[in-house]
Amino acid sequence: MSKNIFIKTFGCQMNEYDSNRIFDIVKKIGFNRTNNIDEANCYLLNTCHIRDKAKEKVYHEIGRVKKNFRFKNKPLVIITGCVAQAENEEMLKREPYIDLVIGPQAYHKINKKIEEYLNKQRRLDETEFDAISKFDYLEKIKNSSQKISSFLTIQEGCDKFCHFCVVPFTRGPEYSRPFKKIIQEAKTLADNGVKEIILLGQNVNAYQNDNYRLSDLLIEIEKIPEILRIRYTTSHPNDMTDDLIKTYGISKKLMPLVHLPVQSGSDKILDSMNRKHQVEDYLNIYKRLKKINPAIRFSSDFIIGYPGEDEKDFNNTLSLVKEIEFINSYSFVFSPRPGTIASKLKLNDNKISFDRLRIIQQKLTDHQIKMNKSLENKVIDVLVENKMKKSPKFFGRSEYMTPVIFNGNDQDIGKVVKIKINNSNRNTLFGEIVEKSKLKVA
Ligand code: SAM
Ligand code: SF4
Ligand code: F3S
Repeated sequence: MSKNIFIKTFGCQMNEYDSNRIFDIVKKIGFNRTNNIDEANCYLLNTCHIRDKAKEKVYHEIGRVKKNFRFKNKPLVIITGCVAQAENEEMLKREPYIDLVIGPQAYHKINKKIEEYLNKQRRLDETEFDAISKFDYLEKIKNSSQKISSFLTIQEGCDKFCHFCVVPFTRGPEYSRPFKKIIQEAKTLADNGVKEIILLGQNVNAYQNDNYRLSDLLIEIEKIPEILRIRYTTSHPNDMTDDLIKTYGISKKLMPLVHLPVQSGSDKILDSMNRKHQVEDYLNIYKRLKKINPAIRFSSDFIIGYPGEDEKDFNNTLSLVKEIEFINSYSFVFSPRPGTIASKLKLNDNKISFDRLRIIQQKLTDHQIKMNKSLENKVIDVLVENKMKKSPKFFGRSEYMTPVIFNGNDQDIGKVVKIKINNSNRNTLFGEIVEKSKLKVA
């Protein structure tokens, strides 16, 4: 019988990367990946714990799978990711339909766990922190990603312990992969046809291996001719070191969108969050980068309604949003997470928090619309990713990650082409390819 695995992923880009690497591992014991759940005899749910209802979402999802397989053979059900780490054996107790629970630092053991389960039918959880062994193992397995834009994890875990965040508990202590292994993986991706690499880490700019820093990785990956664009996410303001800032003046492939979460524009709230920097430090980074390249734009993450946030704190956040004109940003109302310091603080009024969220999101949307409108009738560089499924048009991204839909050609997939933008909305730019001959005339 063929072995088919269906993988569903919640959460951040690192979970997406992990899901693909998990598939690279289980392929070794004969699994094929399927996008059709009905064909699956193994169902893997890669979970996220960052905001509320994460746990309930998982049990809800398992309920749906149960229903789907009511009249068929039960698939092997595996839960991975940050809820798996946080809940471990609790999940096996609460939901008998779950067979294996495997935390993010134990993915290298997944084949062994599957085989143990299949031999003994014994339900297991494996949630030890063992980042070194995990990456040692993964480095021996080829990354099979053939996407035009691909993730590459360089660092995992976090030692910063912001008072609202579960990541240090679910992903463990900070670990940076060896420099040479990362470059090797980047070359493998380039050989697979990848053109854009997005370096990942919970604190990607805290990367430190021997004397190598993120800036060294960026400069080395830039030397791979097939790689046309490089990005990194997610970074922390305290790790925006001089060498990294200077790289923006040297690199030709590092994209001019800096995703730098600030969370709040109030020093009082930043302090209570344990972010260990002030608004002025953030503004200094912004000004220094703008000086190096005025085309640089910022995107960010915001937590609204953090315990103790009053009208003045919120207005400070709003002022910062207006000053920096962030694009492509994320904002959520504070969600108390079990085990964190902030979960013990008195919650703000829910209605006020959601009203504030609406105001901030409207402002962020206004900036996005303004940015997209400013590109109408202009010619921009777009990395072409694919032909669209339900339309003859093509899909790519601008230097600022904005989706671009345009009339193109198959042979342009994987290339950076000139697109004239005719139209835009909040999320997307629409345009047409500019023939090279016309560009010269213009
Ligand atoms: N390491 C990154 C940093 O320091 O900015 C953030 C990584 S975290 C996976 C992604 C985002 O989730 C955070 O920037 C924050 O805005 C949001 N987040 C984390 N915990 C949260 C909470 N308890 N409630 C609401 N949003 C939260
Ligand atoms: Fe979470 Fe980022 Fe803070 Fe680490 S630095 S605790 S990942 S928000
Ligand atoms: Fe979620 Fe874990 Fe990523 S909590 S955001 S999947 S690091």
